[in-house]
Amino acid sequence: MRFGYFDDGTREYVIETPRTPYPWINYLGTEDFFSLISHTAGGYCFYRDARFRRILRYRYNNVPADAGGRYLYIRDGDDVWTPSWMPMKSELATYQCRHGLGTTRITGARNGVTAEMLFVVPLGETAEIQQLTLTNTSVHTKELRLFSFVEFCLWNAWDDQTNFQRNFSTGEVEVDGSLIIHKTEYRERRNHFAVFGVNAPVAGFDTDRETFLGLYNGFHEPEAVLEGSPRNSVASGWAPVGSHCLEVSLAPGESRQFVFVLGYVENPVDRKWESPGVVNKERARALMARFDSPQHVADAVAELRDYWSEMLGTYTLASPDERLDRMVNIWNPYQCMVTFNMSRSASYFESGIGRGMGFRDSNQDLLGFVHLVPERARQRIIDIASTQFADGSAYHQYQPLTKKGNHDIGSGFNDDPLWLIAGVAAYIKETGDFAILEEDVSFDNNPDDSASLFEHLKRSFHFTLSNLGPHGLPLIGRADWNDCLNLNCFSEAPDEPYQTTANREGRTAESLFIAGQFVHVAPDFAALADHMGFSDESAAALIHAQDMERAVLDHGWDGEWFLRAYDFFGNKVGSRECEEGRIFIESQGYCVMAGIGVDDGKALRALDAVKEHLDSGYGIVLNQPAYSRYHVELGEISSYPPGYKENAGIFCHNNPWVMIAETRVGRGDRAFEYYKKLAPAYLEEMSDVHRTEPYVYSQMVAGKDAIRHGEAKNSWLTGTAAWNYVAIAHHMLGVRPEFEGLRVSPCIGPEIPGFTVTRKCRGATYVIRVTNSLRHPEPRLAVNGEAIQGTLLPYAPVGTTVTVDCVT
Ligand code: GLC
Ligand code: GLC
Repeated sequence: MRFGYFDDGTREYVIETPRTPYPWINYLGTEDFFSLISHTAGGYCFYRDARFRRILRYRYNNVPADAGGRYLYIRDGDDVWTPSWMPMKSELATYQCRHGLGTTRITGARNGVTAEMLFVVPLGETAEIQQLTLTNTSVHTKELRLFSFVEFCLWNAWDDQTNFQRNFSTGEVEVDGSLIIHKTEYRERRNHFAVFGVNAPVAGFDTDRETFLGLYNGFHEPEAVLEGSPRNSVASGWAPVGSHCLEVSLAPGESRQFVFVLGYVENPVDRKWESPGVVNKERARALMARFDSPQHVADAVAELRDYWSEMLGTYTLASPDERLDRMVNIWNPYQCMVTFNMSRSASYFESGIGRGMGFRDSNQDLLGFVHLVPERARQRIIDIASTQFADGSAYHQYQPLTKKGNHDIGSGFNDDPLWLIAGVAAYIKETGDFAILEEDVSFDNNPDDSASLFEHLKRSFHFTLSNLGPHGLPLIGRADWNDCLNLNCFSEAPDEPYQTTANREGRTAESLFIAGQFVHVAPDFAALADHMGFSDESAAALIHAQDMERAVLDHGWDGEWFLRAYDFFGNKVGSRECEEGRIFIESQGYCVMAGIGVDDGKALRALDAVKEHLDSGYGIVLNQPAYSRYHVELGEISSYPPGYKENAGIFCHNNPWVMIAETRVGRGDRAFEYYKKLAPAYLEEMSDVHRTEPYVYSQMVAGKDAIRHGEAKNSWLTGTAAWNYVAIAHHMLGVRPEFEGLRVSPCIGPEIPGFTVTRKCRGATYVIRVTNSLRHPEPRLAVNGEAIQGTLLPYAPVGTTVTVDCVT
């Protein structure tokens, strides 16, 4: 069942009913100011850091779901309704929500009035613009009263939801004409405030929640609105809100537009005040002036559209499959941008207070976005690397506002360091910017302890080598990619966090995943070392990789597939000898991606075992059989009921590793089959089962052991976005940058008989026409009409366009 449709022309998903199976959200903002907005206008916004600079309050796991957002109440006679359906839930004559690239448009109509709300965070601004277009479609004059509404968060979102003894007394606002200023804590150490303004005179306002709603009322029964008049309340402590009241008279057929601006403003410390106790509003006024007319909003929307067109023009696909085109051209890169910006911090499943930027996550997110914003990827790499420790290990997370490592989580996830090599290699392949390797980058943000970025990579690589276990395989530490495989944790106490508890500090538990990862990044590391002139380091890296491969084949092959790990006691994890958890996906995907067992048939066997034991109608599950009870020696993985999350859920992030592995052994048809099971555009028809947004990937789909098999959770912020992009764009469609040239090597099976990829890279444009006849073991390429040897195109001069014909 569908709840909307894709409008590829406008690059929007159009939701046709507010009763979607879950709130379907969008993200507004590109750099510093971000909004989460659901199809019923729920959600919140923040400046840079969802924990420390939260602008609107949002109550997670609320009843009803998704209550709280930016609402507009329309009072028409005695009737009160909201065009976003929530919170009034009055029946609407029409309803539509268009989530697009950085814009959301919600339109509702009732009793001969149509209200369209356009939400956008313009480029370069720290504000959410809410433009209302109100039209009288009836034959009578309409006398309407409008009440805007937002509820402010007292900045620190954690404190805001926990420290009530303090924060019920700190709230402060100022009202100046049509400007509502939220200035809690501005009197002391903050030099920022929020402004909520509108480009029209107001008939009144409210800023105190209790006065506006009534103490025992929900958002659907605001007393001020139901009684028809604002109370001009000025919040003092408790809960500051922003509500403007506008009086509008509309002749039949008449339309009017209003622009509301919800902004974040910082003042220089010495210019905080206009007069004692009165906020200096110069910058707020300037912001309002920039959006004082619909034309300015239209310009901002057009500018954003061009920004996206330009960016998405870096890689475009024309194929006979429109679902594939819309994934590759629009929605998958869009989600990659969001994961790049948010990491795992703020979504409808991540509260914005728990996690900052993941070391591992951010490096992987970069893989999906590096070609779109290389300069920002460069900065991101430096930020991440600056949190690394001198011994090569890494903080697991850092806070986006301070860019400092997060002490609460600390380090000890032994896969983390190697992801930095993958991220940097991807960046250099895309840009050719080898100079980044010579950048001076500190360790643990200590300016007195720094080294070149290359040295950081070297320490990453050697971190693995200095942390090998009894079988010569990498020690897992607290966990590897799978946060829930906690082999040193041994937790028996309910409140111990699995991720940071190590009740046994052993040097025995080993990871086949990290082994595969090591072999996978080694050639890139060696190439970079070579480039730096360190040929001994380079040669040694390749030998280390061979040794690791040997260790995998000698100690990590279970007969039909790769083991997953050795536990603390040296017992096998992911072996046919195990009672539960006999086979895992991660090591099959990563070891084969690394090329292990490709020559001797082991890779094929491992992938066939994945098909046989792990595949399901909705994707590949993480392990089988699911753990049916808690295994103290395995940790969190066995804490989940069978079929959910890391315990045999379809953990979508790792499925693309198997897709890429399938292309590695030449089975493009199987890779594409897996691809279609997960790609949201192919799941639109089963939205009632899947439940999350049909335009973005979710982290997890309930596996075959779960009662709710096929139901997705944790949409948006997941490495699934970047990795699926890499799988389809680089490996199935087969166009990917390498250090020395652009590789063209499609492997997608017969379902896509031909396609054209237009790829911009390092200043040149490549128009690649593929005839996918599947007749040649190696694709045959002609460049500007001339056949070439092999599948690597040398990079063309800046400004040129190269036509490539490729026949498979
Ligand atoms: C979550 C984490 C990621 C981890 C994965 C598997 O998605 O963000 O870092 O690799 O779970 O546990
Ligand atoms: C839990 C989740 C995992 C996530 C981790 C983050 O372990 O199962 O997916 O990566 O928390 O801390």
